[in-house]
Amino acid sequence: MPNPKHLLQGTLFLSLLLQAVCKSTIEPCSNSDSCNALLGYTLYTDLKVSEVASLFQIDPIALLTANAIDISYPDVEHHILPSKLFLKIPISCSCVDGIRKSVATNYKTRPSDTLSSIADSVYGGLVSSDQLSEANSIPDPSVLDVGQNLVVPLPCTCFNGSDNSLPAIYLSYVVRPVDSLAAIAARYFTTLTDLMNVNAMGSTAINDGDILAVPIPGNDLMLAFLSFSFFSLQFIISVQFLTLSLSLSLSRVAACASSFPKSASDFGLLVPNGSYAITAGHCVQCSCGPRNLNLYCMPASLAVSCSSMQCKGSNLMLGNVTVQQTSGGCNVTSCNYDGIVNGTIATMLSPSLQPRCPGLQEFPPLVAPPTTVAKDTVFGPAPAPLFDGAGPTSSISSVVPSTGLPGFSPANGPISGISSGASATCSLVKPLPTLAYALVILLVKFMIPVAL
Ligand SMILES: *[C@@H]1O[C@H](CO)[C@@H](O)[C@H](O)[C@H]1NC(C)=O
Ligand SMILES: *[C@@H]1O[C@H](CO)[C@@H](O)[C@H](O)[C@H]1NC(C)=O
Ligand SMILES: *[C@@H]1O[C@H](CO)[C@@H](O)[C@H](O)[C@H]1NC(C)=O
Ligand SMILES: *[C@@H]1O[C@H](CO)[C@@H](O)[C@H](O)[C@H]1NC(C)=O
Ligand SMILES: *[C@@H]1O[C@H](CO)[C@@H](O)[C@H](O)[C@H]1NC(C)=O
Repeated sequence: MPNPKHLLQGTLFLSLLLQAVCKSTIEPCSNSDSCNALLGYTLYTDLKVSEVASLFQIDPIALLTANAIDISYPDVEHHILPSKLFLKIPISCSCVDGIRKSVATNYKTRPSDTLSSIADSVYGGLVSSDQLSEANSIPDPSVLDVGQNLVVPLPCTCFNGSDNSLPAIYLSYVVRPVDSLAAIAARYFTTLTDLMNVNAMGSTAINDGDILAVPIPGNDLMLAFLSFSFFSLQFIISVQFLTLSLSLSLSRVAACASSFPKSASDFGLLVPNGSYAITAGHCVQCSCGPRNLNLYCMPASLAVSCSSMQCKGSNLMLGNVTVQQTSGGCNVTSCNYDGIVNGTIATMLSPSLQPRCPGLQEFPPLVAPPTTVAKDTVFGPAPAPLFDGAGPTSSISSVVPSTGLPGFSPANGPISGISSGASATCSLVKPLPTLAYALVILLVKFMIPVAL
């Protein structure tokens, strides 16, 4: 009989080889708190804003603001977004069976849907057909009833809303054949090292024309799993999870963190740099960046009735800031949003003495609802023009902002895009490795008692 240790090693080597096709970053979790996360989603066809929102069961306004799309356009929810447009989908990330994931999305099957068309097209590779069939206990994936309600498990991570102890939000990004890690890093204003650390990667290699995101050799995540839970069932589950998952990579997006009390229903709100969030039943709009990562909230301009947004004991409204130059520095008083508590908008007056008076509030540039996808924006960051009139001004004593919403800046193009051309995702990979892999898992499972 061969040495079990060698056999095990061989088996593992084989398994690593086989599953080198796919990788997804997994975040173990233990509490039941949910957190904010983003999905990187590429439209498979022209869809209305409201249709994209209903695909993920999210608020259309939240979808628009997360992408810094101007919501003041008439009938913006019915605007048709172009196929291949890349969007950031804000989702709530929960903790299911010890792993961070989003399970709040359901999909109602339509005629001619198949599990793989739902996984690869409709959800842009964010889920695999295997995950769909597993999550919905579908014995025969070739038979789908029309109108069947499917749970769509989606990948997400939060890592405590921070990265290198700075606020951060995590985007689950499906790696495309045209991607390189460096380009992804550049696209999201992060560094290669950070991206590698976050994803526990030992190598940046993404081969030309390769549909696979991350090569397994040197993958620290995998090694961590190996060393920590080698002989546990958890290991098997992890490996299985990795095998069946897609080539997802994780991007960290610098964000503005809120500090609402725990009792607030929007506790933990995180707004990615360069975008907006709508909260308090469409009453409050918060923005982040571009110059600093301080959350700034003000009344939203949507036609909804809202409770008072005035700070107690002052005549300041939410978002108003008064500055007064004194000999000791700049006396800044602001009326800040403090979350939705007991169904009402909580505000907090916060005085502070700062060395210098702040300039006018700057807003992330807004873009017009996109109608086309530029072909040359595959790697490039958003070609969004800067909001004019936001230059730093040395106001000695003023109340800012004096205007409501930031002005609209006409867009040169979409937020970002993905080149045309068929993009094969991991789930399209030949079924053979998966099959062989299942055997390998069985083998490993079988070997455990021997090794022990
Ligand atoms: C999570 O972040 C908070 C502050 O944002 C910190 O107090 C806490 O210790 C962190 N928890 C972990 C597990 O890192
Ligand atoms: C925020 O995003 C802008 C571009 O939108 C970028 O120039 C800036 O460096 C980012 N800020 C941080 C702190 O990441
Ligand atoms: C700062 O301004 C607030 C309100 O304008 C005022 O009540 C407070 O006394 C000022 N503090 C200082 C140190 O000037
Ligand atoms: C919320 O309302 C409940 C009763 O309606 C009250 O007991 C509680 O103190 C309120 N909480 C806050 C933070 O105002
Ligand atoms: C305070 O903020 C409100 C809402 O944004 C705005 O309408 C008002 O003009 C601001 N007040 C002053 C004095 O600027």
